Amino acid sequence: MKLADNKATLSFSDGKPSIDLPVYQGTVGPDVIDIRKLYGQTGMFTYDPGFLSTASCQSAITYIDGDKGELLYRGYPIEQLATNCDFMETCHLLLYGNLPNAEGKESFAKRVTNHTMVNEQMQFFLRGFRRDAHPMAIMTGLVGALSAFYHDSTDINNPEHREISALRLIAKMPTLVAMAYKYSMGQPYMYPKNNLSYAGNFMHMMFATPCGEYVVNPVIERAMDRIFILHADHEQNASTSTVRLCGSSGTNPFAAIAAGVACLWGPAHGGANEACLNMLEDIQRTGGIAKVGEFMEQVKDKNSGVKLMGFGHRVYKNYDPRAKLMQETCKEVLAELGLENDPLFKLAMALEKIALEDEYFVSRKLYPNVDFYSGIVQRAIGIPVNMFTGVFALARTVGWIAQLNEMISDPEYKIGRPRQLFTGSVKRDVLPISQR
Ligand code: CMC
Repeated sequence: MKLADNKATLSFSDGKPSIDLPVYQGTVGPDVIDIRKLYGQTGMFTYDPGFLSTASCQSAITYIDGDKGELLYRGYPIEQLATNCDFMETCHLLLYGNLPNAEGKESFAKRVTNHTMVNEQMQFFLRGFRRDAHPMAIMTGLVGALSAFYHDSTDINNPEHREISALRLIAKMPTLVAMAYKYSMGQPYMYPKNNLSYAGNFMHMMFATPCGEYVVNPVIERAMDRIFILHADHEQNASTSTVRLCGSSGTNPFAAIAAGVACLWGPAHGGANEACLNMLEDIQRTGGIAKVGEFMEQVKDKNSGVKLMGFGHRVYKNYDPRAKLMQETCKEVLAELGLENDPLFKLAMALEKIALEDEYFVSRKLYPNVDFYSGIVQRAIGIPVNMFTGVFALARTVGWIAQLNEMISDPEYKIGRPRQLFTGSVKRDVLPISQR
């Protein structure tokens, strides 16, 4: 980060002396005002619930221009990565900062696939869950439990441990998600097949059974791979900030990623794809396209508490570039599976059309986000709705680790410790219980 020529001056209306605050510039995007010495100089904190105006770190991984609808991983536009690269190349890019050549890609993929199996004991741990447990409850538990199985890679301050835990997490997430699915179905777990691609292997572990040969459909494999690329990182969102905050205490990488999984589960974040599909199914059940107008009136009525899931974004105030790519994939997958007339897809298109023209959405700059179409794709592939967020967690794991490792290597990093504006009772005395 570079010191800008200008400074910010903070002045007070009560005659207190004003102070100068340094301004830093990134390579692109808004400058930041450095307020680290603010408390020391003024005895005041800043107030920013939801971190709407706060840069919590410096990062060189992902850049989003929300107004333009632009998403870059290490400088590369998401459209180019989704079209020209696969998930393994994207993982390499996010972790190490560069796209590998053919040899580098092969050796990275080999290092990842070395770790696709999980400790055999993990299945006994999994068996402790109810069969109808939500997959994200299972994933939070399983990912956290990895730290109990891989003691040799839990020192976050050791670069070798960080490297091996990163590879282990990327490799094992598909295995864990598929195990959670198989467990819910009462089917045997399928061991990973390392001759398949990352996405192909996931499909195999999800949908193969020991009774027959499972052949991966290349269109579906590519769609799955694209879902992984599009969800791989998204700068300092809620779950990534959770991973950083959790990791800032020095906890092990598996525990920090488990915290990210837990955060992702929420319907305003990763759970939105599940919530979006449930919403589409609800509308379909209660009248389909004919009821879209009525539904939209509810969305616009603030007292209804109804939101158009898959619409709106904290950062994008334009079309989410991932949504465009996902819509494209959605069409390809539905055509491949002969589902071109899928009623939910038609319903989603109708909702999108109305919302893009409606004053409520236009004035608030609410556009479709990635989750608007990813649920339809996953459902068509055969992934159950309650597994969607687990698939998102699988894909986001590489981003979480890249961000965590970047933080640990940053000499400026400190344990995260936000402050507060206290509005509770001032000091008072405890009365004996008989006098309360
Ligand atoms: N439907 C209806 N109204 C909405 C929606 C929506 N989906 N999203 C925002 N608004 C309204 C909101 O009520 C507010 O209106 P007003 O100014 O009249 O009070 C205005 O738009 C601004 O919204 P906000 O809540 O201040 O925006 P935010 O940046 O705090 O919230 C969001 C962003 C993603 C939580 C929100 O848009 C939302 O809940 N969307 C639906 C859930 C969703 O699809 N989430 C997935 C996000 S993308 C995946 C990911 O990265 O995790």
